[in-house]
Amino acid sequence: MKQAINPADVPKRKLRSGESIPCIGMGTFGSDRFTPEQISGAVAGAIRCGYRLFDCAAVYGNETQIGEVFAQAFSEGVVKRDELFIATKFWNDMHGQGDVLLSLAQSLKDLQLDYVDALYMHWPFPNYHAPGCDGDSRNPDSRPFRAAEFLSVWRQMERLVDMGLTRYIGMSNMTVPKLEAVLPQCRIQPALIEMELHPSFQQEELYRYCTERGILPVGFCPIGSPTRPDRDKTETDVTDIAMPELVEIAKAHNVHPAVICLKWAVQRGQIPIPFSVYENEYVSNLRCTTEDPLLPEEMERLARLECNNRLIKGQVFLWPEAEHWEDLWDLDGVITPEKE
Ligand SMILES: NC(=O)c1ccc[n+]([C@@H]2O[C@H](COP(=O)([O-])OP(=O)(O)OC[C@H]3O[C@@H](n4cnc5c(N)ncnc54)[C@H](OP(=O)(O)O)[C@@H]3O)[C@@H](O)[C@H]2O)c1
Repeated sequence: MKQAINPADVPKRKLRSGESIPCIGMGTFGSDRFTPEQISGAVAGAIRCGYRLFDCAAVYGNETQIGEVFAQAFSEGVVKRDELFIATKFWNDMHGQGDVLLSLAQSLKDLQLDYVDALYMHWPFPNYHAPGCDGDSRNPDSRPFRAAEFLSVWRQMERLVDMGLTRYIGMSNMTVPKLEAVLPQCRIQPALIEMELHPSFQQEELYRYCTERGILPVGFCPIGSPTRPDRDKTETDVTDIAMPELVEIAKAHNVHPAVICLKWAVQRGQIPIPFSVYENEYVSNLRCTTEDPLLPEEMERLARLECNNRLIKGQVFLWPEAEHWEDLWDLDGVITPEKE
């Protein structure tokens, strides 16, 4: 590939173990718009262009196709297994006793791997909705977060580290009150936590809570997820890449506003995991971490774009008596209680 970037030139972040991992990765959620073949094709191109971190998930429905790409890359000597950092997640319907192992075993089979580098709990509760369901649908079995239930799932994940099936474990879609409730009881602390992070939604408190405890924040929807499923779009959502200040900074650097979102993310310190099936986009997303950094005053202007613009609200995970999607996110600083 002509446009390849030397992985050694991509800045690194340190995990709590001291191990270095790339400051950017590639997302693999097709948002119901892109086929598994398009996405695995992008993963193949991304490996060749220098990406070394991939964010997968059982629920994305494409691990079989991505696994074929990994196997081919290893057999052709494009990259060695230990040069990649591969993460997967188990879905909300796999929280029962023994289910986490079953889900990881399936992911390992599909991805054609002996181990993953990180295993995330995709959401901190077992609330299930069918893939592609309508945004207003509710599952009568859904319920609020319960720390004891979460910890029984985390114990299963800790055992998978002991077994060598995953090197690190992580959480996703957490809040500070939920972390306060569970972290003191985790035998193995999370190495990474995935959270929605983009200029218009910076989650400063959660971000800082994690970094102060040696947990790396991994930022999903780093470009403001312009191609997210329609069920995740509301009329009041702000489009990051159309924000005038961001567009102005992009013009000054002669790049697409998406690239400015990623430069901001990397310079702030989180690991963004942008998605794209287009070679020109995913190459510029990786390359932008190696050149032409944002100026301190540009970083300050971007910090001021925060406007609490949560895009992945999670409303399909609400329990029947919940009033609003905000009930999922503990906005009062306490975990939303279960009603009797
Ligand atoms: N843990 C969780 O619960 C969770 C939730 C959501 C996502 N994720 C992970 O985070 C990843 C990223 O999130 P996301 O896919 O929702 O959103 P995103 O990365 O913010 O946005 C992806 C879209 O941005 C556009 N884009 C990418 N690079 C571009 C460039 N250089 N120039 C112009 N446009 C560009 C593409 O749209 P066009 O096709 O229009 O170019 C692409 O489809 C996912 O793939 C998934 O791995 C995790």
